[in-house]
Amino acid sequence: MIRHKTGIAGFDELVQGGLVEKRIYLVSGPPGSGKTTFGIQFLAYGATIGELGLYVTLSESPHNIVSDMSNYALNIPTLIKLKKLLFLDLGPTLEYGYGDELHSVITPSFDSANQTAPEAEAPSPFIVYKEISNFVKQYNIQRLVIDSVSAIRFTSEKRSQEEKEMSRFMRNLRELGCTTILLSELTDPNTYSTEQFAASGVIFMHNFMREDSMTRAVQIIKMRGTEHDCDMRKITFTKQGLQVLERM
Ligand SMILES: Nc1ncnc2c1ncn2[C@@H]1O[C@H](COP(=O)(O)OP(=O)(O)OP(=O)(O)O)[C@@H](O)[C@H]1O
Ligand SMILES: [Mg+2]
Repeated sequence: MIRHKTGIAGFDELVQGGLVEKRIYLVSGPPGSGKTTFGIQFLAYGATIGELGLYVTLSESPHNIVSDMSNYALNIPTLIKLKKLLFLDLGPTLEYGYGDELHSVITPSFDSANQTAPEAEAPSPFIVYKEISNFVKQYNIQRLVIDSVSAIRFTSEKRSQEEKEMSRFMRNLRELGCTTILLSELTDPNTYSTEQFAASGVIFMHNFMREDSMTRAVQIIKMRGTEHDCDMRKITFTKQGLQVLERM
């Protein structure tokens, strides 16, 4: 099995060296827990060893993500300039003109004629898959991050139908052959979602108050074909991004 290092200090050792290639992983957590940082570090590390990365934004504009993530010493602006790290904006409010500034940001036109209510503009799983598929094939993408699957609009109101759509979406994504990280908002840690079942690995990011101070941790919930523990491990944010520390 070929494993891809995430490049996150202290993390790869926990999963026998990295994420098994061409599979789909889920990184789930509450606001501000480090999901975006995790995804960007994974892509930035890949980019520095010649694996092209694509960051797909659904909830936040690439502009904001690039600007926030450039605060880390991960050479994000350089990797973008070298076209080793690409951004694809599939959010409801597309930023026209941004592509001129950063050539790698390509603005798709699927909803340019659709100026309806914001919630109606969230893309469907099919649109998201289609746009990503074009991009992956055109640029030979090897690492993919989607931020976040919580922002995909499912066409059915029915829960069971929505689950079917999600598993179809993930099956299609898997066929693209990228090592993929889906970011998702962690709502209720006690109810398991379709994407958690369908993913090859599930990682929770924790962010909670403990003895008057904010505690941050990472926890590997599942990792198929991999020996790992399920303990919470403290994390800290450094200039290089996330760093995994000792058990809690
Ligand atoms: N350069 C930095 N140095 C230290 N800590 C940082 C730095 N940049 C961000 N952080 C910390 O990281 C947190 C946000 O991380 P990140 O954006 O990865 O979380 P997220 O889970 O994606 O959040 P959201 O749910 O809002 O998308 C910030 O709230 C801040 O505490
Ligand atoms: Mg985020």
